[in-house]
Amino acid sequence: MCGIVGYVGDKQAQGVVIEGLRRLEYRGYDSAGIALVDTADGDGRIASDKRAGKLANLEKAIGEAPLPSSTTGIGHTRWATHGAPNDENAHPHLGRVSRVAVVHNGIIENFALLRTELERAGHEMLSETDTEIAAHLLELEVQAGADLTTAMQNVCRRLEGAFTLVAVDAEDPSRVVAARRNSPLVVGVGEGENFIGSDVAAFIEHTREAMELGQDQVVTITRDRVEVTGFDGSPAEGQRYHVDWDLSAAEKDGYDWFMRKEIFEQPRAVADAMLGRHDGSGKLQLDEVRLSEDELRTVDKIIIVGCGTANYAGLVAKYAIEHWTRIPCEVELAHEFRYRDPILTRDTLVVAMSQSGETADTLMAIRHARAQGSRVLAICNTNGSTIPRESDAVIYTHAGPEIGVASTKGFLTQLIACYLLGLYLAQVRGTKFGDEISQVLDELSRMPEHVQEVLDQAEDVYALAAQHAQTRSVLFLGRHAGFPIALEGALKLKELAYIHAEGFAAGELKHGPIALIEDGLPVFCIVPPRGRDELHQKMVSAIQEIRARGARTIVLAEEGDESITPYADELIRLPRVPTLLQPVVSVVPLQLFACELATQMGHDVDQPRNLAKSVTVE
Ligand code: G6P
Repeated sequence: MCGIVGYVGDKQAQGVVIEGLRRLEYRGYDSAGIALVDTADGDGRIASDKRAGKLANLEKAIGEAPLPSSTTGIGHTRWATHGAPNDENAHPHLGRVSRVAVVHNGIIENFALLRTELERAGHEMLSETDTEIAAHLLELEVQAGADLTTAMQNVCRRLEGAFTLVAVDAEDPSRVVAARRNSPLVVGVGEGENFIGSDVAAFIEHTREAMELGQDQVVTITRDRVEVTGFDGSPAEGQRYHVDWDLSAAEKDGYDWFMRKEIFEQPRAVADAMLGRHDGSGKLQLDEVRLSEDELRTVDKIIIVGCGTANYAGLVAKYAIEHWTRIPCEVELAHEFRYRDPILTRDTLVVAMSQSGETADTLMAIRHARAQGSRVLAICNTNGSTIPRESDAVIYTHAGPEIGVASTKGFLTQLIACYLLGLYLAQVRGTKFGDEISQVLDELSRMPEHVQEVLDQAEDVYALAAQHAQTRSVLFLGRHAGFPIALEGALKLKELAYIHAEGFAAGELKHGPIALIEDGLPVFCIVPPRGRDELHQKMVSAIQEIRARGARTIVLAEEGDESITPYADELIRLPRVPTLLQPVVSVVPLQLFACELATQMGHDVDQPRNLAKSVTVE
C-alpha cells in the first residue's frame, strides 16, 4: 500500500525513481510523484512534480515539462488514506520553504494535533494529508541546524502510528534519509549508489544486495554509505541479504498482465514451494520451522489468521491439518481476531498467513497472540518482511514476486506450505504413519504436472469467459475443501470484474441461497473427487437442484467422472487427485476465468480499482 523509492548515486535519479515506481505501482495507483534535488545553479532546490492517477500521468507531465538533471531523488505511488486522490494530496509533500521533500506510506495517527500546532505557528498546509506535517516538521529541524538524519530521528520520536518516511533536503544532495515504524522499507546496496524501496522490486534491476531494517529505525543513504540508527540516534545494524530472484521475475515476459503470467508460473511455484523440504525417503524436513519438536508436540490448538485470499488458504488448510494431526484448527479473519478476545495459551500455535508479510491486520493479530504467550508461525512469500520477522518461526512459500494485485501463485504456494506444515506436525506427533505421509508427499510432488494439465485447458476457459462478458452475477458452489475454493473463485471475480459473485457451501444452498437461482444464472460447481462418495453424491444432487431451476452450470469435475455430464452445461476437467489436495487444481480455472473475463470487460487486471496489493493500514 503506497510504493516509495529513494536514490543517491551517479545515475540520473529521475530514470531510477520512475522505473522503481513502475515496479511498485501495484502497491497503489491513486497518484504518483517525484522530487529531485537540483544543484545546477549552485544552490540546492527541490524540483518536483506529482499527478493524480496512474504513473503514466506523471510521466506525461514530466515529458512535457522536464525536471532538471539530478542524482538524488525520491518518488511515491499512492493508495489514498488521508484525503482524496488528487494532485494536491499526491506525494511528495514539501515544507514551508520547499527545502525538504517527503514521501510517506502509512498513517500518522497524531497528525491532527501536530497540524494544529503547525498552523498556530503560521504554517499553511496545501493538502489534506497527514504526510505534509512531516515535511514541515523536518524542515523546521534542518533550518534550526540539524542534519537530515538527526531531523528524521527527532521528528519520528514525535509521530504515532505506522509510517515509512523518505526525505531529501535541498541543501544536502548527498543523502536520502528514511525511517520506518510498522511499514515496509528495504535498502538496496549498490556500488557507488544506494537505494530505498518499499520492497526489493524497486531496485532489483540495479542490485540484488538488500538490507532489511528493524522497527523504529532511521537509515541514511549516500553514494557510498548506508547508516542505520534507532529513533534515539543510537547506532543500529540492518540485516543484509541477497535477493534470490532477478529482474526477469519482475517483468511481464510477453504476457498482457502480471496476473496471467503468475497464473502460468504456478507449476514452477508449486515445485519451488516443495523444494528441499522432504528427503527421498518420504521424511519431511522443515528446518526453518524454528520451533522444537517438543514445542510442536505440546500444541493443543491451531488458529490460522489472514485476510482475503490468504484467509481462504487457511480455510483449506483446516480440512487437511485437522484430518492429519487431530489438532483442533480454527481459521479467523485477522482483523476480527484480537477484538473478540480469543482464547490463547502457550500451547496455541497461531499461523499467520500472508503473501506480502506486511498486511497490517495480520501483523496486529500476531502481536496480540504473542503478547498472550502463544507461538506464531508465519507462512509468507516475502523474505525479510515484517510478519515473519515478528514471528517465532516461518515457512517461506518461495513463489517468487507476486505483482498482480489479485493473489494467484501466492495462494497455491500457501496451500502447499499448509499441507507441508500439517504433514510435519503429523510426523512429529505420530498421528500418521510414515508411509501415509510419504504417500501424500508423492501426490504433492505430482501437483506441478497436474496444475499444468489444467493450464493446458486455458483456451477453453477463455472461450467460456468470452460468453459471459455481459454477465452481472455469478455463483460458486463447493463442498468440503472445495468450499473455500468457491469463496476464492467469487473473490477473484469481485476483485477483477467488479461483478456480483458469491461462493456458497453447496449444502447451504437449500437454506436460502437457492432463492437467487434464476434462468441463465451462471453457477460454477466444484465437484469433489469420486473417492469421497458421500460428498460427491450430495454435490451432484445440489447441481441437479439448481439446474432444475434454470441455472447454467459450469462444472469442474475430475477426469473420468461421467456421473456429472448430464447436468453440466459446461464441463471443465480436473486431474484426479486426492480430495484434500483438489483445491490446488480446482482454483486454477477460476483464476483464468476471472483474469480473462476482466480483460474482456476492459478492466485493468493488475491494478483493479480501489485495491492495493499489500494493505499496510488497519
Ligand atoms: C489485499 C489483497 C488481497 C490479499 C490480501 C492479503 O487485500 O488485495 O489479494 O489476499 O490483501 O494479503 P497478504 O499479503 O497478507 O496475503
